[in-house]
Amino acid sequence: MSSTKIALVTGGNRGLGKDMALQLAHKGHNVIITYHQNRELAIQTVAELEQLKVKSVALHLNLSDVKSIPAFIVTLKDTLHSNFNATHFDYLINNAGMGATVPFEEVTEALFDEFLNVHFKSVYFLTQHCIPILNNGGCVINISSGTTRYCNPGYSVYSSMKGAVEVFTRYVAKELGHKGIRANVVAPGPVETDFNHAAIRSNPLMKERLASLSPLGRVGVAEDIGSVVAFLCSDEARWINGQRIEVSGGINI
Ligand SMILES: NC(=O)c1ccc[n+]([C@@H]2O[C@H](COP(=O)([O-])OP(=O)(O)OC[C@H]3O[C@@H](n4cnc5c(N)ncnc54)[C@H](OP(=O)(O)O)[C@@H]3O)[C@@H](O)[C@H]2O)c1
Repeated sequence: MSSTKIALVTGGNRGLGKDMALQLAHKGHNVIITYHQNRELAIQTVAELEQLKVKSVALHLNLSDVKSIPAFIVTLKDTLHSNFNATHFDYLINNAGMGATVPFEEVTEALFDEFLNVHFKSVYFLTQHCIPILNNGGCVINISSGTTRYCNPGYSVYSSMKGAVEVFTRYVAKELGHKGIRANVVAPGPVETDFNHAAIRSNPLMKERLASLSPLGRVGVAEDIGSVVAFLCSDEARWINGQRIEVSGGINI
């Protein structure tokens, strides 16, 4: 069996997840990424990862469909066996997600349920299903948001789910410490990606306003976040456990 570390990054085909995958590969880790709708981007990202001399595979995952998780785990186990000669992996990064700006008074039950499934219920059960195949000494990183600390109007559903993920992370840290598994939250501030219909990238006024809220005078870029995730997966971070690490340039302090 191989002793090389293996990371699973959900939503690793683009945006923050892609940079997390690249930063993990720069540290020499093999990376399994997942995609939902953009398979072509996943193929491109796998090619970029392989150029860094690590092994990489892209798997389909739909977090809207919680019931599909057991089948995903079967595929994951097959992939570990056939592509990595492994039965277990080391780092689970629950990153995939989507955004929407919807005022509280207009939120429908359907929207609530979609965010519940993608951002919380699937994160919860994907993690539960991965634990039996996560190596002792591994870690779980859940991606939350700065908006659990400060309020961004229209984010009541999104941020409530991220808040739930933060509580969940502490329970994972508490209950899996006996296996040497750590769990932490990374909470990015606004980052210029495709997120929420590329709201920041396509709206210069919004970008300027968000930049002005940070003492550092800019919004984030994906590279600001991926490096922190890669650090948390390293031995240097072995004593960081059960923490929420905000990576936001100090927005709204
Ligand atoms: N960007 C920000 O400002 C910001 C700030 C704080 C927190 N975050 C969080 O950071 C994470 C990544 O955001 P991002 O900026 O990288 O967003 P992004 O560029 O829009 O990428 C979203 C990723 O999630 C995947 N995804 C979306 N819906 C999915 C579903 N139903 N099932 C499985 N995968 C799904 C997408 O896959 P496909 O491309 O295949 O559809 C894509 O890989 C999210 O959890 C987000 O809440 C982002």
